[in-house]
Amino acid sequence: MERTFVMVKPDGVKRGLIGSIVARFEHKGFKLIQARLIEIDTPLAERHYSEHAEKPFFGELVEFITSGPSFAMVWEGPGAVKNARALIGRTNPSDADAGTIRGDFALSVESNIVHGSDSVESAEREIQMFFGGQL
Ligand code: CMP
Repeated sequence: MERTFVMVKPDGVKRGLIGSIVARFEHKGFKLIQARLIEIDTPLAERHYSEHAEKPFFGELVEFITSGPSFAMVWEGPGAVKNARALIGRTNPSDADAGTIRGDFALSVESNIVHGSDSVESAEREIQMFFGGQL
């Protein structure tokens, strides 16, 4: 069965949105496989966001994701990667439909509340990075 990696970012944790976000995945029918609160350090942030290393906002991205605890999760279900991204909504909350997590809870692309793997390959890499050895 397919699995995906989802993470409530520091802005979501600070705003007390972990429960609301977990509820949406549960209500959709996903099965929770693993979850933990994690303080992401700079080396892990740089690995997680390595594909954005050349982007002008890379420094801000690393600073933001290391600014407080994040809540990392592994969810399982048919088409988990695609279905989780549908629940999460477009990267820029201004483009995200109402009813999606980013559409309902976020206003800016820098603080968009939640991360979801963008492919099955990314999901495997991110699950290994955050939960390696525990699954
Ligand atoms: P995510 O999809 O989790 O991973 C890459 C992140 O880069 C993305 O969420 C956004 O939060 C962030 N991002 C994308 N575009 C910008 C931007 N122009 N400025 C700052 N952050 C951005």
